Amino acid sequence: MKPLIVINLKTYETGTGKKALNLAKLAEEVSISTGSKFIFCVQPTDIRAISSQVKIPIYAQHIDPITYGSNTGYILPESVKSAGAKGTLLNHAERKIDHKILKTSISIAKDKGLKVIACADSVKEANQIAHFSPDYIAIEPPELIGGDISVSTAKPQIITGTIDAVKKVDLNIKVLVGAGIKTSLDVKKSVELGAAGVLLASGVTRAKSPKKVMQDLVSLV
Ligand code: G3P
Repeated sequence: MKPLIVINLKTYETGTGKKALNLAKLAEEVSISTGSKFIFCVQPTDIRAISSQVKIPIYAQHIDPITYGSNTGYILPESVKSAGAKGTLLNHAERKIDHKILKTSISIAKDKGLKVIACADSVKEANQIAHFSPDYIAIEPPELIGGDISVSTAKPQIITGTIDAVKKVDLNIKVLVGAGIKTSLDVKKSVELGAAGVLLASGVTRAKSPKKVMQDLVSLV
């Protein structure tokens, strides 16, 4: 099975508004020509415009465990769903969530029909989060995020450790690998170690030619 390439646009200028839409269109072209699977995690304000014009799945970068009512400034799961999101990222290193809240957020998101990629910064946290049954756990050592050394090169043992720890709790949860992922070799190594795919940002958002990077990412798998 082809690995999943999850691209988190964060709040990069190159990943905001029309530029986010253009990146998603390029990913769609690569997906069509290679048969590879991409997911884009975008800002809430960009979900509707992108999901209505591009077929690759669009995820929110965060949702809050709330329902309709008095929750000024929070992100309503129903809203991202009706804007076209197919899922959500949760507990990213840049948007950590208390585990009690995370557990509820995962349950509400799944209840609303949103897939969940929950991030973990260590094997220990991955093990804890596995008990909340997200669809995916993305292991991302925070110190490698945004850098040029990939987790698959610097810390292969954290990938295998996470896969083992998650498997022991719930065989249905797939593990993604993130932090410093930029090349086809990073993707290949991650898959060889047992991951279902990768989660990356700067490799695409800071690239001179994002399409070439996306083509390269899927070229060996
Ligand atoms: O969400 C993905 C991210 O935190 C990894 O960032 O820039 O190292 O690919 P980056």
